Amino acid sequence: MQISVEDYARQCAQQGLRGDYSKCRTDFTVAQGYDHTEQDQDVWRTLSDRQTRLTNRLAHRSYLDGIRALGLVDRVPDLGEVSGRLRKLTGWELVAVPGLIPNTPFFDHLANRRFPVTNWLRTREELDYIVEPDMFHDFFGHVPALTQPAFADFMQMYGTKAEDLIDLGGEEMIGRLYWYTAEFALIEEPGQTLKAFGAGLMSSFSELQFAVESPEAHRVPFDIETVMRTGYEIDKFQRAYFVLPSFEALRDGFETADLAGIIRRWKDRPPLDPGRLSAAA
Ligand SMILES: [Fe+2]
Repeated sequence: MQISVEDYARQCAQQGLRGDYSKCRTDFTVAQGYDHTEQDQDVWRTLSDRQTRLTNRLAHRSYLDGIRALGLVDRVPDLGEVSGRLRKLTGWELVAVPGLIPNTPFFDHLANRRFPVTNWLRTREELDYIVEPDMFHDFFGHVPALTQPAFADFMQMYGTKAEDLIDLGGEEMIGRLYWYTAEFALIEEPGQTLKAFGAGLMSSFSELQFAVESPEAHRVPFDIETVMRTGYEIDKFQRAYFVLPSFEALRDGFETADLAGIIRRWKDRPPLDPGRLSAAA
């Protein structure tokens, strides 16, 4: 049964999360109401300038193409305006939410090609680290990738299948798949150059450089079953980054894998240690 907005708001407040859920609709969206302060604009520009210098060098070209197609990295984005462009490219649109939202509405938004974007921005004191996803993470990190047809299809399919897989006991396992693809991934570019992909990396100043450039980063070949079995770090650098051959491989792999079988086989076993996976050749 879906949790009500009021109960969810109470849980978030108890955990010290800062979203204001008082104006939420039943699908957890709110009006963006473009009323961002000068201070917000200033924080956005600082984050965006600093991160763009890195993404230009380290992000996969699909991400950079996405940024170019959507524009608007020089000020807090107007979600309606960006949705207009995104809809023409892949049929996705953006909806504003007060912060994290429960699984059921989150997956329902994805299944219907709507991506939830948090409607508040971190403060100047939080430029380097923030516990909760904010608008910079959600927009700068996730949205450009939605201009890529194969990845956009994967995200919709993820939303469509997620609840059934959770019912089989696969919540953690499909959470890992999201984590190691939509948040922290590497992808091969022609010429065997590795580039970064995923919102966790795109919105992080230090981990983006670490994942792509450091000889210390542990890079492993992408395999859906292995990804679903591998634990991850929440507030430290990842101890492994899966290397995707392409978005098509991700989408097609997710479409054809026996996800239910994988979950049944592994859900009651301890997760794999990411530090002990075999490295990519
Ligand atoms: Fe995220």
